[in-house]
Amino acid sequence: MIVRRERPADHDAVREIHRAAFGGGDDVVEARLVDELREDAGYLPQFSLVAEDGGELIGHVIATRGRLEPLGIPALGLGPLGVRPGHQRRGVGTALVHALVAVAEAGDERLIALLGDPGYYGRFGFVRSTELDVEPPDPAWGEHFQVRLLTGPPVSGTFRYAAPFDRV
Ligand SMILES: CC(C)(COP(=O)(O)OP(=O)(O)OC[C@H]1O[C@@H](n2cnc3c(N)ncnc32)[C@H](O)[C@@H]1OP(=O)(O)O)[C@@H](O)C(=O)NCCC(=O)NCCS
Repeated sequence: MIVRRERPADHDAVREIHRAAFGGGDDVVEARLVDELREDAGYLPQFSLVAEDGGELIGHVIATRGRLEPLGIPALGLGPLGVRPGHQRRGVGTALVHALVAVAEAGDERLIALLGDPGYYGRFGFVRSTELDVEPPDPAWGEHFQVRLLTGPPVSGTFRYAAPFDRV
């Protein structure tokens, strides 16, 4: 398996990955969200990564430009992350998250935020956001809103995702 940047020719397969990973059906929020994120000002092509195995795309992760308010400090919002059901629990998600964090470190990003299961993301160094003085967009998200600080002085504030997250 290799991890590489998504290309325009991958868009249909990426949509299918999220549709399958997040329960199937015609209108899967995560599949629609990825399409909308690509059209948004917060889209950063270097943070849309696919896992490819034998020519087949089996996983995808994306992070987009978010901000820490009130100062507007740039940060990354990770998600969605999806792996095709037949390929889960083989390290694909792990490879994608590690790759994305490495790209963020290389690009001098300061913080990655996400909404997800602490049991999964804790292994990558994500902690409950409020432990690091970062407030979730919605206080009800509690321990599921997690952040990982990257190199540099710590940053704090209330995290705001790219606009499509508020629409889907
Ligand atoms: C969650 C997901 C991305 C993980 O990818 P993956 O390739 O299956 O995961 P990996 O093989 O890298 O890691 C597997 C490990 O994660 C654990 N794991 C998988 N999903 C988990 C979850 N939702 N919560 C906690 N642990 C989880 C497994 O127990 C396994 O740990 P173990 O090997 O110690 O038993 C994938 O299962 C998926 O697409 N799920 C459906 C969509 C989804 O929930 N996305 C995440 C949204 S936050």
